[in-house]
Amino acid sequence: MSIIKLIEFPTLGDERGSLIVVEGNKNIPFEVKRVYYIFGTKSGVSRGFHAHKELEQIAVCVSGQCRMIMDDGKNKEEIWLDRPNKAIQIGKMVWHEMHDFSSDCVLLVLASDHYDESDYIRVYENFLECVA
Ligand code: TYD
Repeated sequence: MSIIKLIEFPTLGDERGSLIVVEGNKNIPFEVKRVYYIFGTKSGVSRGFHAHKELEQIAVCVSGQCRMIMDDGKNKEEIWLDRPNKAIQIGKMVWHEMHDFSSDCVLLVLASDHYDESDYIRVYENFLECVA
C-alpha cells in the first residue's frame, strides 16, 4: 500500500475564478482542530523531519510548490505538492520532510488536534525503533 494518500479536492469555479472547500469529516477524514501555514521559506531550507504518534494532518500548497518525502520506516515515497487542489494526508507514524519550497509557496496544514510537542518524534532513530 502506498504511503502517500492523495486527496484531490474538487475545484469549484466560475467566470470569477476558483474556489476550494475543505470540510472536516466530509472531504477530509477528521474534524479540524488546528490550521497552520508555512510561507516565506528561505531558499534551500527544508522543514518537517518528524513523525506524529497520534496526529492526523492534511497538507496542500495553496500557492507555489514544495516536495514532500514520506517515510513509514520501510519505504520512502516523494510527491510534489504543486496544485491547490492536490492534498496529501500525513497519517500517524509517517516521517515527513518538506524540501525545495518555491519562494511563493504557502503550505497549508489542517490538523486533527491542538499543538502538542509530546506527540512529536523528532529523532529519526527513535522513529525507526517505534515502527519496528
Ligand atoms: P516545527 O515543528 O519545527 O515546524 P516544521 O516541523 O514544520 O518544520 O515548528 C516550528 C516552531 O513552531 C516550533 O517552535 C513549534 C512551533 N509550533 C507551534 O507552536 N504550534 C504549532 O501548531 C506548530 C505546527 C508549531
